[in-house]
Amino acid sequence: MNVLGIETSCDETGVALYGTDRGLIADALHSQVDLHAMYGGVVPEIASRDHIRCLLPLIQQVLDEAGVERPDAVAYTAGPGLVGALMVGSGLANGLALAWECPVIPIHHMEGHLLAPMLEDEPPDYPFLALLVSGGHSMLISVSGLGEYEVLGTTLDDAVGEAFDKTAKLLGLGYPGGPALAALAEDGDDAAYALPRPMLNRPGFDFSFSGLKTAVMLEVRKAREDGSYEKRRADLAASFQRAAVDTLIGRTLQAAKKRALDRVVIAGGVGANKLLRQDMAARFDGRVYYPRMAYCTDNGAMIAIAGALRLADAATATEIRAQARWSLNQLTRPAAADGS
Ligand code: KG4
Ligand code: ZN
Repeated sequence: MNVLGIETSCDETGVALYGTDRGLIADALHSQVDLHAMYGGVVPEIASRDHIRCLLPLIQQVLDEAGVERPDAVAYTAGPGLVGALMVGSGLANGLALAWECPVIPIHHMEGHLLAPMLEDEPPDYPFLALLVSGGHSMLISVSGLGEYEVLGTTLDDAVGEAFDKTAKLLGLGYPGGPALAALAEDGDDAAYALPRPMLNRPGFDFSFSGLKTAVMLEVRKAREDGSYEKRRADLAASFQRAAVDTLIGRTLQAAKKRALDRVVIAGGVGANKLLRQDMAARFDGRVYYPRMAYCTDNGAMIAIAGALRLADAATATEIRAQARWSLNQLTRPAAADGS
């Protein structure tokens, strides 16, 4: 069975074809970063319009590359995300399924991220602990099986990717700031500033990043006042990155210990951060899994594989689903796994 995956939840148009027997066959991505950069963040209306412009040609490109005329099922991101952007993917997925007379599978965007490591040669077995870190989410999830998710902790304010982006902005870097901040940090001293590791001493597994962001803001202000800002930008970036990564790893180690889990999956855009990958592997006793860099950030391949794993949920009746908010806790195992 060939499953077409469509991702349009935010500022990347992603399309991929995954075969249940062949694995990933083709994938294509169009990033809107250049369109939003001048505004310093994603503009929802511009995102929706660009998805409309790019989605059909990308689908054609993927099918041509795969030499497949029509897939056997269409999976699409049904949420969470920008509702207008989701509507584009959802509307087209349902329209195509109607024309192709094939089933459609609505996919939770964060489940896509969580399953992205399954695209790799050595995928993790269940159970595992997932650290899902992106522009909109910071979550620790205990994963017992497909669709069996228990959210252990989440962010109380800014997501970690958002904290990277806002701190990058403070340091005069463009959007999206995460990769730019990580690059600047390479030239800095990560012990130059003693920044807080928020929440690490509190019970539970929630995150909070707004205090860290404010602490950097105060240091930036001080450096501007005493004229050292230009010289210290890299130190500020390195110290912020170190504090954010320490916080993520500290919380993950606490949760893995408490739940006696010896496999950790890191996924989502911030999962592309090299320091996070290296340090997690160094500090965690068990095994760490991550998708390749390109499948950390939003992409169609993760939606296609999630669709292939959820074929049992495929619906023949079309229903245009687009949910801006949607908790992972609400997902269930695929129908077949329940024997129904
Ligand atoms: O998963 P993603 O592509 O989109 C969402 O679903 O949000 O994540 C995007 C986020 C942005 O905040 C971006 O700055 C961050 O991931 N990011 C990084 C890196 N690459 C992307 N943050 C830190 N270091 C990176 N190398
Ligand atoms: Zn994402």
